[in-house]
Amino acid sequence: MNINLTQNKNFKTFKIFSEVAAKNNQTLFIVGGYVRDLLMKRQSPTDIDFVTEGNGIELAKAIAKELNPKLKVSVFKNYGTAMFKHQGLDLEFVGARKESYAEDSRKPSVEIGTLEDDQKRRDFTINALAISLNKENFGDLIDPFEGILDIKNRILRTPLEPSQTYSDDPLRMMRAIRFASTLNFKIEENSLNAIKNESERIRIVSLERIMVEFNKIMLSAKPSAGLKLMEETGLMQLIIPELTALKGIEEVEGQTHKDNFWHTLEVVDNISTNTDNLWLRWAALLHDIGKAPTKKFVDGIGWTFHGHEFLGSKMVKNLFYRLKLPLGTDMKYVQKLVKLSSRPIALVDDGTSDSALRRLLFDAGEDLEDLFILNKADITTKNSSKQAKFKRNFEEVAIKIKEVEEKDQVRNFQPPISGEEIMELFNIKPSREIGILKEKVKEAILEGEIANDKDEARNFVIKEGELLGLKIGI
Ligand code: CTP
Repeated sequence: MNINLTQNKNFKTFKIFSEVAAKNNQTLFIVGGYVRDLLMKRQSPTDIDFVTEGNGIELAKAIAKELNPKLKVSVFKNYGTAMFKHQGLDLEFVGARKESYAEDSRKPSVEIGTLEDDQKRRDFTINALAISLNKENFGDLIDPFEGILDIKNRILRTPLEPSQTYSDDPLRMMRAIRFASTLNFKIEENSLNAIKNESERIRIVSLERIMVEFNKIMLSAKPSAGLKLMEETGLMQLIIPELTALKGIEEVEGQTHKDNFWHTLEVVDNISTNTDNLWLRWAALLHDIGKAPTKKFVDGIGWTFHGHEFLGSKMVKNLFYRLKLPLGTDMKYVQKLVKLSSRPIALVDDGTSDSALRRLLFDAGEDLEDLFILNKADITTKNSSKQAKFKRNFEEVAIKIKEVEEKDQVRNFQPPISGEEIMELFNIKPSREIGILKEKVKEAILEGEIANDKDEARNFVIKEGELLGLKIGI
């Protein structure tokens, strides 16, 4: 099959590459994800991988020089690769090689090979397709492992015996699941069995690399596809055991609780129809994480998960730390949503006081809408009348909250009286009394004892200050 590259937006670039390779007496091919996405008519990636039978570094340097003598080429000698940027593209060159990882080592041993050797050692047949940039067969597709057929049948298959491919680089187990989830492909049966057998080998892969794949699964249209595969192959248990701990339904005195693992997966899918925010999806993934360690059967009441949101939000930090995820604002955001995840439900009751609504507004602040998105996604009951009722209740809470917000404006709470003003009022220097009074003002506003208003706050501070033994300054 010949791929007509003349319409390709990188055609001119490919033509130049082809000419330089010919001048250097080297072959040149496009390989990997770029070819796959081109054939699948997906959005064209900006990363393009090239293989040459010969020295990849030398060829990269020669091509870069032809494009612009000042172009900076980054060389990774150990891997025999070189890369540079050109017109917004990240272009990577490698000499065809045979490569394998020793059983107990992360360092590959590399030998020079042919194009087919190189294709063989790639992860999946759909990623092992090559397009020739050689003059005699420019545009020819080289597909020794029927990758085209696998694209058509939406199958992930390894070019070699699956256990060898996965053992060569165990990250590929995560990649298989990631591609299955993002491309909506099936992992071929032998491959799936190999992942189940080899899953323990994931331990030699760095968590950073694992998480890159995991986050791609989380960003797919239906993340549960990948999350289920992780569970089925044992990888979930190895990477996030806190989630598999949510599995199972126990029965005591005829009372059961829902399986929180499968519920969580549904919540993640639900939220993914409403947001592409990775961390909001993470909040959905972790919203019930505290339920396994807090689960208790209480006589006369049934199953309880008392304080699971609080414990869950603490677990988020340990988990992010262990998984080498960012520990800054993203982690805090996930913690906050997990901690608040049950609060709006508790407010659904008609008799909810304004102060409870104000407190939620104050605690959620700018993340209130995201909290509601999470709460809506959390409704997984299959009973349609129940579902409609939950949704209605929510809308009511949202309306009430809006009313309170308009009235009291506590959402992005700014104290109506500042520390300086309090110091001036009592003619005092910085002291702990100021902190105490500020906290009292906040509490009084949230409780509805005073309005969020400067005069009321001032009068309140005078009264409370006097109780603390302070006197108005002259
Ligand atoms: N590859 C591999 N094994 C890996 C990683 C990559 O065999 N563990 C090969 C595949 O042929 C892959 C190519 O290297 O197509 C490029 O890898 P990468 O850029 O990481 O992935 P892509 O397949 O391009 O996919 P994506 O851009 O979606 O990550």
